Amino acid sequence: MIEDFTYYAPTKVVFGRGAENKTGELVAELGCKKILLHYGGGSAERTGLLGRIRASLREAGAGFVELGGVVPNPRLLLVREGIELCRREGVDFILAVGGGSVIDSAKAIGYGAADEERGDVWDFYARLRTPRACLPVGSVLTIAAAGSEMSPSSVITNEDTETKRGYSNDVCRPKFAVMNPELTMTLPAYQTACGCTDILMHTMERWFGGGGSMELTDGVAAALMRTVIKNAKILMAEPENYDARAEVMWAGSLSHNGLTSCGTDGGDWSSHQLEHELGALFDVAHGAGLAAVWGSWARYVYKENPARFAKFAAEVLSMPRGADDEETALSGIAAMEDFYREIKMPVSIRGLGVEPSEAQIKKMSAKCAANHPDGMGKMKKLFEDDIERIFRAAM
Ligand code: NZQ
Ligand code: ZN
Repeated sequence: MIEDFTYYAPTKVVFGRGAENKTGELVAELGCKKILLHYGGGSAERTGLLGRIRASLREAGAGFVELGGVVPNPRLLLVREGIELCRREGVDFILAVGGGSVIDSAKAIGYGAADEERGDVWDFYARLRTPRACLPVGSVLTIAAAGSEMSPSSVITNEDTETKRGYSNDVCRPKFAVMNPELTMTLPAYQTACGCTDILMHTMERWFGGGGSMELTDGVAAALMRTVIKNAKILMAEPENYDARAEVMWAGSLSHNGLTSCGTDGGDWSSHQLEHELGALFDVAHGAGLAAVWGSWARYVYKENPARFAKFAAEVLSMPRGADDEETALSGIAAMEDFYREIKMPVSIRGLGVEPSEAQIKKMSAKCAANHPDGMGKMKKLFEDDIERIFRAAM
């Protein structure tokens, strides 16, 4: 069955070599005058990217203040600092230079700075209040991964409660995304692989939902996933291959801007929720955390819809589709894990280099379940016991 859907992807994409030099022009087009230049831990400075962006902003006559220091699994404390800075300086636009972490932090600052009640920004992530507005956000993307450059989501870690939570609202959809694939050539191989994994998982989560889909969406999704698998392998050997960087970068945006959801029930998202618990407790890279749990999740749920898993094996991994869907499904799950191994992603929690204690497994399972009181996921509704079993199987 084809589900009803709304597709909304309002972000202007400027893609290609030297695209970052147009940043000032893009901000000026929006009529914004005081920018918060937001970035991470140093890569954008080291590569000279920030210098080029500052020059572009100055040339366009835009004033700006800066806040760097965003870390992977971006923290609430810095978000609060950013909100104060925006209010003090009268900021009217936030420019995120970096990856998902910087863009998510920018969106959170945007919610807080536009909040007329001046309450705590974490209220939105804890679902205690709903934001009515967000300062406009734009990005210069330096890693193809999270898809935050076109998505309505933002994922923030509250360091006080060791809680990592995502929140989605169309008001934070970025106004523009500047994407120069060359900027991703300085990524360590591990981050490139984490990014490719996250991109794949955004479409896999949507593929393995509990409802229907449509032929067109499945075709787009399968092409997207095949493209990422092929080019991820190329990038492991040739990190400076422009075409492979470009294919992966565009796939990252399309994988999380809603295109591969059209006609589906929105997808399962359990692997993401499991990763959020690992990320909150152990600060692991998001993509690696997804690879570590996906196989265990898939083996736990595949009997709900073996045909869907068999279709994945055939159309995404080009495996022969035998008469027995369960058998093809299991071979497909194993082949996907082989791919993760090939790009040096972990396929277990220990492979992430962490060793959760009994108490920590229970804590992650309880927190994850509490966040989904009606059961987590669409392929199969998962409750605390199920979640604990998956974490144990993934060890
Ligand atoms: O901080 P710097 O020095 O810039 O280093 C970063 C960081 O250490 C480095 N890096 C980025 N671009 C680089 C570079 N190093 C060299 N050259 C470059 N060109 O890469 C590291 C990872 O960056 P990060 O922004 O954390 O990566 P990613 O884009 O994977 O973002 C991960 C975050 O996004 C969230 C994740 O949970 C995680 O917190 N997600 C956000 C989503 C969304 N908003 O829609 C959806 C995703 O499912 C995901 O949950
Ligand atoms: Zn993700």
